[in-house]
Amino acid sequence: MNRHVIEFEGITVRKGNNLLLDNISLSVSSTEFVGIIGPNGAGKTTLLNVIAGFEQFSGTLSLFGHQESRKRDRQTRLRIGYVPQLFQIDPAFPILASEAVVTGSIGRLGLFRSPGREEMERAMRLMEMMRMAHLADRPLGQLSGGERQKVSLARAILQQPDILLMDEPTANLDIAVQKEVLDLICEIHTRQDLTLLLVTHDVTMLPAAMRRAVLLDNGKKIYDGDIDTAMSSETLSRLFQYPLETFDRNGKRFVSYD
Ligand SMILES: Nc1ncnc2c1ncn2[C@@H]1O[C@H](COP(=O)(O)OP(=O)(O)OP(=O)(O)O)[C@@H](O)[C@H]1O
Ligand SMILES: [Mg+2]
Repeated sequence: MNRHVIEFEGITVRKGNNLLLDNISLSVSSTEFVGIIGPNGAGKTTLLNVIAGFEQFSGTLSLFGHQESRKRDRQTRLRIGYVPQLFQIDPAFPILASEAVVTGSIGRLGLFRSPGREEMERAMRLMEMMRMAHLADRPLGQLSGGERQKVSLARAILQQPDILLMDEPTANLDIAVQKEVLDLICEIHTRQDLTLLLVTHDVTMLPAAMRRAVLLDNGKKIYDGDIDTAMSSETLSRLFQYPLETFDRNGKRFVSYD
């Protein structure tokens, strides 16, 4: 059954005179993979924060078929994983990469159990799968931006959420690792009943499984539908206010610009 797991009705976020989200309506069905695409400052992170429960808004938000109240209940919070845009940490903060990953399992264990050997083994298996086992015993604060982003992603995956929100999860990764991480995201999407929302402005690196795009510009939803139509030269040039040309070669999408 494909019920809506996320439903926005007239969601507006305002800060002072700034309208960060302007009357957005949006429905996402279970197991969909949606790209949230738009230029800097469009409101993409704000939209994820509304879903994650970190943003005040007006309008109606329903998650998993229930209308959300002001205070997010713990059960709903645990069903939503979030990979933030920037994962910053004080270099002196005394935690190892593997310990940071294993915190993803804390929610599932309940209040009175802390992660033990079983959870650490699960974390290690996942880190091996993500080719980051060599980072396990490194202090988190000493990792590079890209390595930290992988830790953040592993932590969110270990949480086994029903909705996974990712804010430019591959922005700091080199091309090979970007491809690897996107493949992994697609694999998890097929294996679990996971609903994925991925924010990006890199239109050259869109996973094949992402079939729907929501285009945001200046707090407004300007397009919602099939990704191939969204990626037309006209639509993208208008969105980024720069002449871009998209073309397909051997089923792959390319973007060219002057
Ligand atoms: N506390 C705030 N007060 C006023 N304006 C804010 C505040 N926080 C964010 N904004 C503005 O809201 C707009 C949307 O921000 P948001 O972070 O959602 O954009 P974004 O689409 O994620 O951009 P980027 O691609 O750069 O990450 C931006 O113009 C930003 O400057
Ligand atoms: Mg952002």
